[in-house]
Amino acid sequence: QATSVPADRVPDMGKRQLMNLLLLGTISLPTAAMLIPYGAFFVPPGKRGANDGTIAKDAIGNDVIAAEWLKTHGPGDRTLTQGLKGDPTYLVVEKDRTLATYAINGVCTHLGCVVPWNAAENKFICPCHGSQYNDQGRVVRGPAPLSLALAHCDIDDGKVVFVPWTETDFRTGDAPWWA
Ligand code: FES
Repeated sequence: QATSVPADRVPDMGKRQLMNLLLLGTISLPTAAMLIPYGAFFVPPGKRGANDGTIAKDAIGNDVIAAEWLKTHGPGDRTLTQGLKGDPTYLVVEKDRTLATYAINGVCTHLGCVVPWNAAENKFICPCHGSQYNDQGRVVRGPAPLSLALAHCDIDDGKVVFVPWTETDFRTGDAPWWA
């Protein structure tokens, strides 16, 4: 309520609310409108299906085909794709040349820079303030307060599909802060 907000905070609050409205309007509402009826109808209760996921897009906006991706991305590779809500999301190629079942959100948990993968160091190293994350995106050096967010990485009909990760974070044993 405007009456309970100190006068000096008002412009800030206004901006934030506007951002929230924009985000809600452009992302959540259409997505929810499409997914809820569809998902509720087709997905058996308690089961996670590809219907509530988002197909990964490559750098030029094409759907990522798992088999094609693995021809050009070798063991240990971490390359950005467009993921859930348009977030930059790393596909992970395991040592056995399969796609990992998790993907790593590339947005730094400090102030939101996109964190590059540094293969030589085997870490994600943020260029903005130096935060570091291990090869699974677990934070190993601040100032970032939290590990990089996870998404499930499934293959549906040959395409890579991201599904929101709502379970325990396997890297930390904690509840997922992003869910
Ligand atoms: Fe990554 Fe600050 S935004 S360390």
